[in-house]
Amino acid sequence: MRVAVFNGVNLDVLHRRDPDLYGGLSLNQLETRIYEWARELDLLADCRHTNSEGMYVAWCHDALDWAGGVIANPGAWSHYSYAIRDALELLTVPVVEVHLSNIEEREEWRRHSVIADVAAARVLGKGPDGYREALEFLAQGRS
Ligand code: DQA
Repeated sequence: MRVAVFNGVNLDVLHRRDPDLYGGLSLNQLETRIYEWARELDLLADCRHTNSEGMYVAWCHDALDWAGGVIANPGAWSHYSYAIRDALELLTVPVVEVHLSNIEEREEWRRHSVIADVAAARVLGKGPDGYREALEFLAQGRS
């Protein structure tokens, strides 16, 4: 099963962000782990990153044609982008919302996610391992 892993705004500079919150890996290191975990679970991951909201939306549309599951970490867009929320809602396959940090225990504005209601599962505050948990969720539900 092919799994889309879409990381959004500012996740390309993960290695420069607070390691206590985000785990200290670079995006490249994170993606390397995701590819390894996916292989172990017999999944085929396609990891992508963009700082362009329109590109993120276009990838969600594109995933309609090929993905058996989607892992979405839209970064700060999670808190206000109804455009990304609506694009994720189009998917008929399970969407797992992942955040490296626990957004529910951070600043008030970060606690609300506009994509939460279109996600089949949410993994918050588990650092890089959260992506493994998301892959496991999708692997368990695979048909
Ligand atoms: C994040 C949490 C967001 O609030 C933040 O804007 C990010 C990363 C996370 O993975 O913890 O950029 O999505």
